Amino acid sequence: MKTLRTAALLAAALAATLTAPVAQAQATGKLKVGLMLPYTGTYAALGAAIENGFRLYVDEQGGKLGGREIEFVKVDDESDPAKATDNVNKLVKRDNVDVLVGTVHSGVAMAMAKVAKETGTLLLVPNAGADAVTGPMCAPNIFRSSFSNWQPGYAMGEVAAKKGHKKVVTITWKYAAGDESVRGFKDAFEKAGGQVVKELSLPFPNVEFQALLTEIAATKPDAVYTFFAGGGAVKFVKDYAAAGLKKNIPLYGAGFLTDGTLEAQGADADGLLTTLHYADSLNTPRDNAFRLAYAKAYKLQPDVYAVQGYDAAQMLGVGLAATKGDAGRKAEFAAALEKAKIDSPRGMFSISKAHNPVQDFYLRQVGSKENKVVGVAAKALADPARGCRM
Ligand code: BEZ
Repeated sequence: MKTLRTAALLAAALAATLTAPVAQAQATGKLKVGLMLPYTGTYAALGAAIENGFRLYVDEQGGKLGGREIEFVKVDDESDPAKATDNVNKLVKRDNVDVLVGTVHSGVAMAMAKVAKETGTLLLVPNAGADAVTGPMCAPNIFRSSFSNWQPGYAMGEVAAKKGHKKVVTITWKYAAGDESVRGFKDAFEKAGGQVVKELSLPFPNVEFQALLTEIAATKPDAVYTFFAGGGAVKFVKDYAAAGLKKNIPLYGAGFLTDGTLEAQGADADGLLTTLHYADSLNTPRDNAFRLAYAKAYKLQPDVYAVQGYDAAQMLGVGLAATKGDAGRKAEFAAALEKAKIDSPRGMFSISKAHNPVQDFYLRQVGSKENKVVGVAAKALADPARGCRM
């Protein structure tokens, strides 16, 4: 009798153990983050700012995210799509990173997304706006802390139409970022009755703008819309002014045209209007604290790239907090980010089902070497995520 009762008690205890929710253990050891960024070439300053921002957030958390100490491995991707697959494979297969963070150039980012998709490695994109990354290539393990190329272009298309412009020429580098930025601009501008009369382009990272500037002068549009960034943006703004176009044909851009570039552009950038998800004069407690901490750590003023790097680290922190430091628990990682509100220096943003930020786009004007906020050009703008099936 006694033996039977003992057996029943044991069986009940065993059943309780089997049905109880399993408490997941905290992952331990260092978490390897593979930074794949441009440290040379026209986008070198952008890569450095992203790394600075990322490291600043990790340092603010005592060097740990999700309870794990962060270790960095770095690769210079040179903004070269031809080397991208080899570079990302070095991080994934040779260095065995837990997380990939990169990059700036859309063409390189698409190669990273392909490898991330194939290998299931977690990928956080801290700049490159390639629409495909959160479009046809979207995946549960791929996230972006920045923007899609379509977004700032769309915001500026609405602004240009509201200003009464009817005929616009676009000029950009011929690769995904330029093409998609122009497409975003066109979507909004032509919906509002405007017309893009000419689409000019040159290969990335070419900066021989003269022939195209002559063509703009001959076409005499109401305005020009452009996507350039980094060193190329510096030269374009200076050449546009030197060609005598600035005083006659308003120049509008996705905000990369004047972000992180104003020291070098000087007075040639004064008065330019751009749209972006960050500005220098937000003057919110969150942004002021970030700007102060960044300036103290690096003796530099932050820009949009620094913010995107900082927020990529914040996003990694949110995901790892939900998975006790395990980057491999992808469904829980994604669920945590999909319901998160990221407290960014740019302002709060959420993450769409396709894993791209849903955020405000500011209209900014250059003055006194700052991108000053003029207003909000597009509120809580979501990328259309064309082709994303998840
Ligand atoms: C891009 O290639 O997606 C990109 C590069 C620099 C600034 C913004 C976008």
